[in-house]
Amino acid sequence: MKKVKEGKAELVLSDKVFFNPQMELCRDISSIAVGAYCRELGRKMHLVDGLCATGARGIRYGKENDCIGKVEFVDMDENACKLAGRNAKLNKLKSYKVHCCHINDFLFHNRVFDWVEIDPFGTPLPYLQSALASFRKEGMLSVTATDTAVLCGAHPRACLKNYGATPIDNEYCHEIGVRILAGAVVRQASTLNLGVEFYLSLSVQHFFKLFVKLRAGADGAVAGMKKLGYISHCPICLHREWRFNPPLLKEKCPKCGGKLMHAGPLFLGELWNARFLGCMREINRQRDYGNKLKIDEILSLMEEEAGMPPTYFDLHKVAEKVRKSPPNFESFIEKLRQKGFKVSRTHFKRNSVRSNAGIKDVSSVFYHRTNFQ
Ligand SMILES: C[S@@+](CC[C@H](N)C(=O)[O-])C[C@H]1O[C@@H](n2cnc3c(N)ncnc32)[C@H](O)[C@@H]1O
Ligand SMILES: [Zn+2]
Repeated sequence: MKKVKEGKAELVLSDKVFFNPQMELCRDISSIAVGAYCRELGRKMHLVDGLCATGARGIRYGKENDCIGKVEFVDMDENACKLAGRNAKLNKLKSYKVHCCHINDFLFHNRVFDWVEIDPFGTPLPYLQSALASFRKEGMLSVTATDTAVLCGAHPRACLKNYGATPIDNEYCHEIGVRILAGAVVRQASTLNLGVEFYLSLSVQHFFKLFVKLRAGADGAVAGMKKLGYISHCPICLHREWRFNPPLLKEKCPKCGGKLMHAGPLFLGELWNARFLGCMREINRQRDYGNKLKIDEILSLMEEEAGMPPTYFDLHKVAEKVRKSPPNFESFIEKLRQKGFKVSRTHFKRNSVRSNAGIKDVSSVFYHRTNFQ
């Protein structure tokens, strides 16, 4: 049988059990997040590796962080359960149990966890309700979605069916997709009287990942619901605006009269917790992952994004619209800052900026290039 080493884990693989080596980056980031959450919790953590397959996540989380009390591995495939058990033993995991059953059966009947990992094929929606219901007072939900094409607008009907939301296939569709997923978490959490705080929201390669802190309480649940709304986008002039639970959406772009496209309902609130990201960066520095530099870059970009408004401007797209060549990226940022605007880069896309400036101010920088390039 084939063996691989990933992080501190050694894993036996099998043709009958799913393992995607390309998800190493996702597992690295998640293991660091477990470490950061341990620090917040300040005690041993009880963790569920739901949909565990080889057990790669639970084993890595347990071996790479010294704060894991017990790991529950869950998979409904017998081959996966056997392999996860074998791998847990091989890696000398101290306290663990393998449950060969449907993840929803497991989570609905056990309510004691600090961290629940949901890493399915495609959409996590069928497992969200049980995962959320498994937290007693508070906990962390770590959820992956690999149906990014659906969330990014390639299949709007599937998005409406699965997420109850309309996407837009535009230059910031990845952010819209992440916000639609986040909105689905908020809505389901609210029905269980849970408030949510997004600690980290990631779009990279072909997956989305959210780390969501849940806290029991009606006030938090209502506050989350109030942050749901719609993003309206004008494909003619690139104007965009967002509204919290609006009674009516505008049909026409207020800038150029073009027909607006609407995405939502989605989450318009904060997608990152800067303190948590800072803690993750510190932990990453102490690890020797092959992805260390890449992870630091992603986390530092997110630190910039925290506190910034929704949507970003893709400078190539703006350049096309204003019929000018794209400016030097760093100089562009500097110029927009000089005009008094807040500007950050975004991990979602290269050569794109997040800002409280509107499309008019962003475009104006393209017209006054001589003094900065
Ligand atoms: C994408 S793989 C998990 C990958 C793994 N977390 C990793 O990082 O390598 C999804 C796993 O979920 C299992 N699965 C699918 N539906 C399930 C369900 N309803 N309950 C429990 N396990 C399920 C499959 O057998 C498969 O092993
Ligand atoms: Zn317009």
